[in-house]
Amino acid sequence: MIDSQVLSKINSWKVGNNLNFCLGADVGGSGIRFCLTNANDQNDKIEPGHIKVKSAQEFMNAFDNLHQAIQSVAKGAKCVGSSIACAGLRKEDTVQVMNWNGPAENQTIRISKINQNLFPKSHSLVLNDLEAGAYGVIALGESGKANEYFQKLWGPKGGSLLSKYYHTAVMAMGSGLGSALIIKEPETHANVVMPTESGYLMSSSRGMEHPNYNKEIGTLEFISDRYFDGQLNPPYEDLASGHGIVDDYDALIHGKSGLDAGQIAEMAKKGDLNAKTAMKNHYIFFTRLAKQLAYGTNCRSIVMALSNQVANKWLIDEILPELEAEFKDATAWRWIREVSVYSQVKECNVNMVGTTYVAHY
Ligand code: BGC
Repeated sequence: MIDSQVLSKINSWKVGNNLNFCLGADVGGSGIRFCLTNANDQNDKIEPGHIKVKSAQEFMNAFDNLHQAIQSVAKGAKCVGSSIACAGLRKEDTVQVMNWNGPAENQTIRISKINQNLFPKSHSLVLNDLEAGAYGVIALGESGKANEYFQKLWGPKGGSLLSKYYHTAVMAMGSGLGSALIIKEPETHANVVMPTESGYLMSSSRGMEHPNYNKEIGTLEFISDRYFDGQLNPPYEDLASGHGIVDDYDALIHGKSGLDAGQIAEMAKKGDLNAKTAMKNHYIFFTRLAKQLAYGTNCRSIVMALSNQVANKWLIDEILPELEAEFKDATAWRWIREVSVYSQVKECNVNMVGTTYVAHY
C-alpha cells in the first residue's frame, strides 16, 4: 500500500519536527480509497490506491494497516483531520453500509471504534457519499476548477455550477441513487450541505396521453412486482442506478437477464437495442427525479456527478434533446426553465475531493 513514492511524499511534508497530514477516504461497495494530504496544503496529496473491503471488520483492518504502514515510513506522523464518505444510513455511532452483504454486523461500522490515530476525536467526520460529493462540488467551485470537470447540459445562459444566491442539488448514480443539497444561507450566502435519501422517492410515470405511457407503466409494474409485490411504485433508485439499469433491461425482456450494469453498458455501446433503451430509460428517470428535486428544494442548479456521467457521455450527448424535453416538460414549466443542469465530463473522484475539503476544515 505504501511504496517509495508515497514514502518520499509523506516525508516531504515535515516542518521542523512536525509531520502533520489529513486523511480522506471513500468507501464503495467493493473497497476503500484513501487520500493523504499535507496538512498545510490540501492540493499536495497522495492516493495509495484501492483496498478491497467488503465488511465492517475489513474496513477497521484497513485503517489499522494504513496507520501501521504510515508509521513504518514516517514515524510520529500525525493525522490532524479526517473524513470518510460512505453510502448508507447514519444512526448515532453507526453507519450501515448497504453495499456489503451478510449479517447486520458485517454492514455496520461503529464510528467510535475506527482507529483514532487516523480518525482523531473532534477533528473527524463520517459523511454520506453524496454529502461528500456536495462538498467536492463546493471545493471545485471555490477553486475555480468546476468548469474543467462539469458542463452545462441545458439552462439559462451564464451563471455557474455553484449558484451564488440559490440552492444546488448534487445527484449521482452508483450502485444506488444518491443526492445532497447545497443550501444557500440567505443572509451570508454561505453553503450548508444537507445529505438526503431522495433516491427512495417513489417514481411516477408520464400522463396517459403521452406516447411513452404504456411502456413506462410496463416498466414500473415489472419492477414493482419484482420488489414490492405490485403494491408500490418503485423508488427512483430501482430505475436509475447500477442495479436500476438491470431492472430496466429485465423489464424490456420481461425476464431475468442475469447481466450486470457494466455488461449492459458495453452492449449498449456496441448498438444492442434493448441495452441502449434500458440505458436511455435510466437517464429519463434520473432526469425526472432531477426535475422533482428542483421543485421540491427550490434549487436553481442540479449537478449530475461521478464517473458514470463521464463514461456515458456518448449516450447523454445522443439523447440530450429527449432528456432536456423530459426536464422542461413540467407542471410549473416557466419556473423549471430557470434551472441549469450540469453533468460531469472529466474523470475526478468528487466524493474524495469533498472528504479532503472537510478533513482540512
Ligand atoms: C444510499 C445512499 C447513497 C446512494 C448512492 C443509496 O442506496 O441509501 O445513502 O447516497 O445509494 O450511493
